[in-house]
Amino acid sequence: MKKLFFGSLTILAASFIMFSACNKGGGNEILIGEYGSLTGSEATFGISSTNGLKLAIEECNNNGGLLNKKVKLITYDDQGKPSEAQTVVQRLIKNDNVIAVIGEVASSRSKAGAPICQQNKIPMISPASTNPEVTAIGDYVFRVCFIDPFQATVLTKFAVNSLKVKRVAILKDVKNAYSTGLAEFFEKEFKAAGGEIIEVQSYSAGDKDFKAQLTAIKSKNPEAIFIPGYYTDVGLIAIQAREIGITVPLFGGDGWESEKLTEGKAKDALEGCYFSTHVSTENPDPAVQNFIKKYKEKYNMMPDAMSFLSYDAGLILFDAIKRAGSLESEKIKNELARTKDFAGVTGKISINEQRNAIKPAVILEIKGGQFKYKETIQP
Ligand code: PHE
Repeated sequence: MKKLFFGSLTILAASFIMFSACNKGGGNEILIGEYGSLTGSEATFGISSTNGLKLAIEECNNNGGLLNKKVKLITYDDQGKPSEAQTVVQRLIKNDNVIAVIGEVASSRSKAGAPICQQNKIPMISPASTNPEVTAIGDYVFRVCFIDPFQATVLTKFAVNSLKVKRVAILKDVKNAYSTGLAEFFEKEFKAAGGEIIEVQSYSAGDKDFKAQLTAIKSKNPEAIFIPGYYTDVGLIAIQAREIGITVPLFGGDGWESEKLTEGKAKDALEGCYFSTHVSTENPDPAVQNFIKKYKEKYNMMPDAMSFLSYDAGLILFDAIKRAGSLESEKIKNELARTKDFAGVTGKISINEQRNAIKPAVILEIKGGQFKYKETIQP
């Protein structure tokens, strides 16, 4: 009796394991998870990235899917909060059984979600997080963009060679890992290039009054101000800088990129300012122009850097799954690591030893509220 009982228990357990093994990835479907800020103050980040990824999935399915299955996306909103990012990544892996995760855009939230992917051995690809610590979390964590030490080199070259400035002040967001990291890398690079950082001031995302910091900066007479923050604060900072009589150019990194950056009075305040980012929509490359056309047809708006990068994150994942010929996470991870010269819409993607993509950056100039291509800086 005892034997029989344990016997059937074993069979039951075995069939349960088999069932869950088959079900992993969704049976006839391949389940992919995504987390992003679909609501909250950084909602454009989440919306742009999910739109890009959905376009990649739709095209993949129209072309017959992957390994004879359709790809299905499950997206959760993390509301722009790192703690919520952890909750939804856990849900994607434990409840939904996704085979891979795409996200996040913001480095602070990628740093919250990535350890959960790593612990569960589920490959994660961040489309746009540039802080180096993100992929350092482990061998299951990848990105399709460059990292901030490179972005700092790009901004240094631009400041020294194009803006021709030597005395720069920094205004950074201390609540944001991307911002503090980029500030630190820029300071190091700029000093190494013979520049001087004459003042460093801080704010916290969501602040509304920057006058004290800007006044302190103004008293030091900088030739330009570096603001490594998100578009959500940069507009207001620029308006207040002009109000207190700061006329020098402001410049920043990819976090500036959103069409919301130049809304209202920020349009004039940011005239003649610059930021580095991943793509220029003016790039005549047919891959870029074709993507813009498809994106506009589907969503009735222009794609931004995150839309491009998330589309590419989807593409390199599908490519890795195809080469793996399997939905086993370890095999997919190994193939992701082998990605070489993959032709994406953001250029050629090669994943290096640290699971980062080596790519050029572009500098855009703000003119009449538009982002105009200025130059490309190679790695
Ligand atoms: N690089 C930013 C980060 O790591 C996110 C970002 C990417 C923002 C692209 C705008 C455009 O937090």
